[in-house]
Amino acid sequence: MRLLLVSDLHYSLPLFDWVVGVAGDFDVVVMAGDHLDLASLVDGRAQATVVRKYFDRIRAKAKLLVCSGNHDLDSKNEAGEWMARWLLGRRNDGVLSDGESTKIGDILFTVCPWWDGPVSQAEIGRQLATAAKDRRGRWIWLYHAPPSKSPIAWSGQRYFGDDALLRWIDEYKPDIVICGHVHEAPYVANGSWVDRIGSTWVFNTGHYLGAPPAHIIMDTDEKEAVWFSAAGTQYVHLEDGLTRPIPNLQALPDWLTAGNLSPAPDQA
Ligand SMILES: [Fe+2]
Repeated sequence: MRLLLVSDLHYSLPLFDWVVGVAGDFDVVVMAGDHLDLASLVDGRAQATVVRKYFDRIRAKAKLLVCSGNHDLDSKNEAGEWMARWLLGRRNDGVLSDGESTKIGDILFTVCPWWDGPVSQAEIGRQLATAAKDRRGRWIWLYHAPPSKSPIAWSGQRYFGDDALLRWIDEYKPDIVICGHVHEAPYVANGSWVDRIGSTWVFNTGHYLGAPPAHIIMDTDEKEAVWFSAAGTQYVHLEDGLTRPIPNLQALPDWLTAGNLSPAPDQA
């Protein structure tokens, strides 16, 4: 199964256009939150309407999984905590979102929402406990905030990670967690786009202005993940341990060039 991972597109329409353009080359497209942008001059409801149309165009080409980020919150739940209501209720349209799990092939995917308070956080705990009962093989989570104390949560000055996620990784040991949120992490000293916590791989593509967006192409059969960015192209083999410095990709792997996939050129 081939996955495309992006995050933090922040209502940058050229970035959404790029995802639409390449989505057909993938089985699954994962968008790990912050689809909208709080600083945009465009009204949030208008942004959501436009982004939902992009979701429709992407899901016409690949399975689409989206989680909320802190820029996506549009209303409050009964506990008065912010949530992304506009993302919900699309499952029948083929868009898996906050609070949902599904199996694609032999992989269980669980999409966690951004939590704004203790009630929402506890709900994620129940969601993971329920989903864990369906786990038979590999388990992949979407979770906008990266785990605390990880290089993928390092901004260059402080960690912006989530302690709760770190505890849940320790408890459930998912195979992979796909995050975003800390835009600078891959581009600053002591930061990274990838980390390993116990047996769990965690990823954060990072974000910068300009298209194409930083992205990760992962092949779960080949068990490799390649990160393409304006700062270079690196890769990890998921069955090996993580060694730093992470190697730069010297040539595209056969599995990436054998089909008709046209990845972004290495801009290093
Ligand atoms: Fe963001």
